[in-house]
Amino acid sequence: MSKTILVTGGAGHVGSHIIEILVKDPNNKVISLDNYFNGSTDNHINGAEYRSGHTKDIDKLIPETPDIVFHLGEYARVAPSFDDVEKVYDMNIVGTFAVVEFCRKRGVGKLVYAASSTKFAIEGDGRHQNPYSFTKATNIDLINNYGRWYNLPFAICYFYNAFGPREKGIGAYATLIAKFEQIYLSGEPFTVVKPGTQKRNFTYVKDLARGIILTAQKGQGDGYTLGNTKGYSIIEIAQAFGGPIKYIDGYPGRTESGDAPNKAREELAWDTTIDIIDYIKDFVEKHPKRSREI
Ligand SMILES: NC(=O)c1ccc[n+]([C@@H]2O[C@H](COP(=O)([O-])OP(=O)(O)OC[C@H]3O[C@@H](n4cnc5c(N)ncnc54)[C@H](O)[C@@H]3O)[C@@H](O)[C@H]2O)c1
Repeated sequence: MSKTILVTGGAGHVGSHIIEILVKDPNNKVISLDNYFNGSTDNHINGAEYRSGHTKDIDKLIPETPDIVFHLGEYARVAPSFDDVEKVYDMNIVGTFAVVEFCRKRGVGKLVYAASSTKFAIEGDGRHQNPYSFTKATNIDLINNYGRWYNLPFAICYFYNAFGPREKGIGAYATLIAKFEQIYLSGEPFTVVKPGTQKRNFTYVKDLARGIILTAQKGQGDGYTLGNTKGYSIIEIAQAFGGPIKYIDGYPGRTESGDAPNKAREELAWDTTIDIIDYIKDFVEKHPKRSREI
């Protein structure tokens, strides 16, 4: 049976990997809605249709009624969100309200939300740590309440720090592993925000994409955490690249991820396939130091 599937943020990092899997099924008509704030046409996948626009205009831009909406199209970075608070509010609160209303009014089969594991840090207080985490946790409440008030069918996944192909290593919205790959290639020291002992559960982007699709197929409600079970400190990550480290001031974020529900592993038998340290080892082997110095 053919399915119309909308991926908001489809030109972004994780969204592009979801689309890559979805277009393999010829029964899927896959549409991306992205405002290209952080997305790129370089992430476009053959076989999907790309529409440019803000989620707040979803009703106008998507005349179709999708069977599934994967909602990833939000401002998606922690540290810069303090400076970008207006953008964060507009893209995540105003935009997501429109997405949720669209799903309710059109009778979309399922809304699948890419939430942030930051909510679980500091015994649940992580939601208040920064503007980004606040909006992500607020949207979790909103979607849960639409389930309660209007029986909106939904599933919520929680991502932990994504790494892997098409990750951005340059610019204000670069993420750590791709940034460290650039630093490694430049031969400069690895800049680590003090104290450097803060831990992250880096998770392979293709595992996240597979996990959110599994959740769309079989999951229901809140609590599908998609994270590597092992966390590594930023110091350990820099050391895996071979160092040296230069400590800098900055916003270190949460100390580590907090306890979270485990429905993805228990109900969907989802698991990760690649550990970040092995991924870095592989990168370093493919780019030996000698070739950097030439
Ligand atoms: N990458 C992670 O480690 C991680 C962790 C937790 C949660 N998440 C969530 O997963 C989703 C995807 O993250 P990502 O790392 O791929 O980020 P990304 O920035 O690469 O992708 C987000 C995409 O959404 C687009 N976008 C942003 N606001 C929009 C709006 N209002 N309307 C239309 N398009 C919009 C951006 O241009 C971008 O292409 C985000 O919702 C993010 O909060 C990501």
